[in-house]
Amino acid sequence: MPASVPLAPVLTGPTRRDLSRPVQGFAFGGDYNPEQWTEDVWVEDVRLMREAGVTLVTLGVFAWGSLELADGEWDFAWLDRVLELLHEGGIAVDLATPTASPPIWLHQEHPEILPVNRSGQRYWQGGRLGWCASSAVWRRYALRAVTTIGERYAAHPAVRMWHVGNEFGGGNRHCYCDASAEHFRSWLERRYGTVDGLNTAWGTAFWGHRYSSFAQVLPPRDSESAQNPGLLLDFDRFSSDALLEHYVAERDALRELSPDLPITTNFMVGSGPGVIDHASWAPHVDVVANDHYTLAADPERAQELAFSADRTRGLDRMRPWLLMEHSTSAVNWQPRNRSKAPGELVRNSLSHVARGSDGALFFQWRASTAGSEQWHSGMVPHAGTDTKVWREVAELGRILAASAEVAGSLVEPARVALLADDVAGWAWQAGQKPLHGLPAFHAAREWHRTLWHAGVLCDVLPRTASLEDYSVILVPAVYLVEPELARGLEAAARGGATVLVTYASGLVDESNRVIRGGYPGALRDLVGAAAEEFFVLQDGECSALEPAGTVTTWTELVQLRGAEAVRRYRGGVLDGEPALTRRRVGMGEAWYVSARLDDEARADLLGEVLAGAGVTASVPVAPGLEAVRRTASGRSWLFLINHGDEDVRASARGTDLVTGAPFDGVVPGGTVRIVREEPLS
Ligand code: GAL
Repeated sequence: MPASVPLAPVLTGPTRRDLSRPVQGFAFGGDYNPEQWTEDVWVEDVRLMREAGVTLVTLGVFAWGSLELADGEWDFAWLDRVLELLHEGGIAVDLATPTASPPIWLHQEHPEILPVNRSGQRYWQGGRLGWCASSAVWRRYALRAVTTIGERYAAHPAVRMWHVGNEFGGGNRHCYCDASAEHFRSWLERRYGTVDGLNTAWGTAFWGHRYSSFAQVLPPRDSESAQNPGLLLDFDRFSSDALLEHYVAERDALRELSPDLPITTNFMVGSGPGVIDHASWAPHVDVVANDHYTLAADPERAQELAFSADRTRGLDRMRPWLLMEHSTSAVNWQPRNRSKAPGELVRNSLSHVARGSDGALFFQWRASTAGSEQWHSGMVPHAGTDTKVWREVAELGRILAASAEVAGSLVEPARVALLADDVAGWAWQAGQKPLHGLPAFHAAREWHRTLWHAGVLCDVLPRTASLEDYSVILVPAVYLVEPELARGLEAAARGGATVLVTYASGLVDESNRVIRGGYPGALRDLVGAAAEEFFVLQDGECSALEPAGTVTTWTELVQLRGAEAVRRYRGGVLDGEPALTRRRVGMGEAWYVSARLDDEARADLLGEVLAGAGVTASVPVAPGLEAVRRTASGRSWLFLINHGDEDVRASARGTDLVTGAPFDGVVPGGTVRIVREEPLS
């Protein structure tokens, strides 16, 4: 087979199926890597899993080298035995295709499958995700492994779900090799049809970088100065699609062998743009699954977790999602790996569940003693079961079993939508900008934080989501806005929604080209205001608003074009100019926020906007108390998570599923209550 062949184009329509869930009630468990242990430990594992109430484990993620010992030589004996033990123990299996980690023999035989970096250097064996999505050799070996495993285990009674690979793009997002270059060129031909179309989209007249044929196009390999933003963005899109093609190929092989088993892969939806475009991937998984790890350096860890969960839910609002991985305590890949405080494990897991996950799975079951993750926490820590971590794991298992009736329900519909889109984020990251070092989702996180502290639920949505059901739609620094999104926002405002657009939104089109005529180009008509120039502030510099408010980082010289000024700049070069504007649009309105508001100014403005739209917290909450409701056919459950040390009162009536007793109106410091609410009579 040649090193590179045209790979099948990605399916276009949604292909998600409505299949039954892998387990009844909540899924609870984690990645299980028995190949690192001896059989006596497996027996002990199953005993402990039963003790903790584990219902589902993800098996075989990195086991290729332990299964296919040499090219075509398989040893299934150990996996047969592990599956038998798990099945006897009543534990369901999410069986992985092991393609996240090719075996050493494959890298030895075919080093050309390893990704190549921007400088043209090929990586070596020894890491994981050591494969290029455009390599036909890779595809052939991977599919052979998937089919061999699929044929053997598709009908195994313990196997309830397929887990394709692991965190696609987590180590092989971009590959700059010749096979990738060829694959990229065919992707571009499909997108643009003619090379003139590409030249126009990328604006290649700049620096005279005109292409006269697709054959001249290369991936954005290292160059001495900044690359074209259109090329960079398309390479990000292509890379996501190339990985998706591989996912779809593995998925389809499994689907043929087991049409009724759900198939998924684990995303990494966090607080920044993804390594893949989650919006275009989500329709291809039967269950949206996510991995989330709290970040030690983040001053608002609980809110960052909520942002990730609200974003994951936003990828499929019709079904619960699944938290495929998180940690029981410290990880090993941050500069200073922070252990979780007592109670934090349970609070973290249940925050995800409150926000729509139908379970809580961890990386990993038993902490490894060897290998690069030997210092990562597990459900069974190095120190054994007489430990804080194990006791909390068992407590979480108990709570999830006691609240099994909640599984399958959905988070109550949010009235606020907040846009945070991968592709728009990539566009912001691609090339030089008016202000460097400002993370793509900084504004999304800030506006979400303000909502989170106010106890107001929002769905965090990609640019392609339907916006019909929302009273308030926030567009925080969404740099790239396509005409469909602009039309959707306009229609939502006409229908009665309040749309709030901030600086750095709608500045470029789908080709990463500036939209002329004043900023925010794509949304200028909607907001009825246009900025002619940015006035980026220096570090530590701030500016004041009239009648009140402080702004930092970014300000603009704005012209009113139909909107009224609600706040003006006070002092400095923009003294007296409009800063915040509002325009009536049909039955709704559109706001424009031309500056980065500080926390207080943002909270004030959002308070005003929410009050105007009649949006309130679904439950009045005290500071530090997170409250989220899940509902199903007239029933509802209120999750109350107390992140503080002090007891907090909350008004809810019903049975607390955590204690089994009537809820007494108090959530003790650091704990969680799940109240089955009494129907309002
Ligand atoms: C995830 C990955 C796991 C494990 C974990 C450690 O990103 O999927 O395999 O490496 O990180 O935190």
